[in-house]
Amino acid sequence: MKHTDIYDVLNDASYLNQSTTVCGWVRTSRDSKSVAFIELNDGTSHARLQIVLNKEKFPDPSAYLKLGSSLCVVGKVIPSQGKNGGVEMDAETVEVIGDCPPEYPLQKKRHSLEFLRTIPHLRLRSNTFNAVFRVRSVLAAAIHEYFQARRYVYVHTPLITASDCEGAGEMFRVTTRPWDAKEGTEKEYYDADFFGQKAGLSVSGQLEGEMAAMAFGKIYTFGPSFRAECSNTPRHVAEFWHVEPEIAFAELPDVIEVVEDMIKHVVSAALEKCPTELEFFEKNFEAGLIAKLRNLVEEKFGVVTYTEAIEILKKADVKFQYPVEWGADLQTEHERYLSETAFKKPVFVTDYPKEIKSFYMKQNADGKTVAATDLLAPGVGEIIGGSEREANLDKLLAAMKERNMTTAEYEQYIDLRRFGSVPHGGFGLGFERLIMYVTGIDNIRDVILFPRVVNKIF
Ligand code: 4AD
Ligand code: MG
Repeated sequence: MKHTDIYDVLNDASYLNQSTTVCGWVRTSRDSKSVAFIELNDGTSHARLQIVLNKEKFPDPSAYLKLGSSLCVVGKVIPSQGKNGGVEMDAETVEVIGDCPPEYPLQKKRHSLEFLRTIPHLRLRSNTFNAVFRVRSVLAAAIHEYFQARRYVYVHTPLITASDCEGAGEMFRVTTRPWDAKEGTEKEYYDADFFGQKAGLSVSGQLEGEMAAMAFGKIYTFGPSFRAECSNTPRHVAEFWHVEPEIAFAELPDVIEVVEDMIKHVVSAALEKCPTELEFFEKNFEAGLIAKLRNLVEEKFGVVTYTEAIEILKKADVKFQYPVEWGADLQTEHERYLSETAFKKPVFVTDYPKEIKSFYMKQNADGKTVAATDLLAPGVGEIIGGSEREANLDKLLAAMKERNMTTAEYEQYIDLRRFGSVPHGGFGLGFERLIMYVTGIDNIRDVILFPRVVNKIF
């Protein structure tokens, strides 16, 4: 269908005083004595185009005013008569493309995000989701821009895997065989399955990413990861998008430098390319959002060791629900205190106790900690987890033994330490958590098209 994007009509002055065709959905409408007004949106812009129906031309406009119906309008673009300036369209002809009955669930009023989750297929048409997904798209492109400009190779790691990268037992199983009470041993059961062995959905592309980095030097992945985490929280989904760069000849400080530089690059892109959307979030979701993002780009992030962080938390004038003890993992409440109260900006926590982190992390000389880092962001908590990797064969094998891991499943990974091993490291960015930070939306279910969470596929 030949038509012009509403974004162009609103932003390109050459359409002024021209006759133009637009298509879109009725977002609001209003009827008065001599004119009727329709706000039309086609998804290409957050703003809507006001269509003016002169009653002399359209004596009964009621068929055109139904919320949710789709229209094709031909009309002249004229300066807006309203106080906000801009342009509107004086309709010449209107055609209903798709009618919409009054039980259409999206009405004129602002609906709560909770209500909108009950209509995941229609909520995308609301203002909020128009803005979230524009920002999401711009952030995704900015991530690719960042790594491509620096000659990282974009690799696609497998989604079906035989090894659990994080070792946290959160893998979904992939099988074609229904369970049967007559099954023999576990081994017999998996031997007869599709792959002839136990398989699952990948929780992370890191292990394969490391193999690619040992060949291409600098790589990144950007794809889905799956976690069968039973935590029903505002920060966890079972299927999330994961950005995992891996860099050869890099130690922990190099990894930290890349994280900070990359985050600043992508947040700058959102500030530059999504001003309307960010103003919308500022007004409706987080006061001070734009200043927060500008500060992030300008200020150096905080850096603190886990051991220092524990000291800060112990001295804090706050009653935490979970105890603060050296050796215990940081809970969301601790992460939020560190980034929101102690540092008031994103902060890297480094050098965690080895017992609470994964087998592949580089063991520090103190024998107690590993060269890991989490980036904690105000309002969200952990948005990135990364580390330098253990490049020493014997130390890696010892760490696996301590965790009772079967080395047979990791032979290829172990080989990297046999054949020209080098210091290397990388990180994983939870893409939805970044979007939460940039939009001020505080539930991960509202920054992903169709969330998958424990007990529910939306
Ligand atoms: O900290 P994680 O588990 O680290 C890894 O997977 C490493 N292999 C990354 C690496 O070094 N290449 O996960 C990385 C990030 C977390 O910081 C979090 O932002 C996000 O992935 N994440 C989730 N996001 C949404 N829902 C979940 N269930 C998530 N689990 C992790
Ligand atoms: Mg983590």
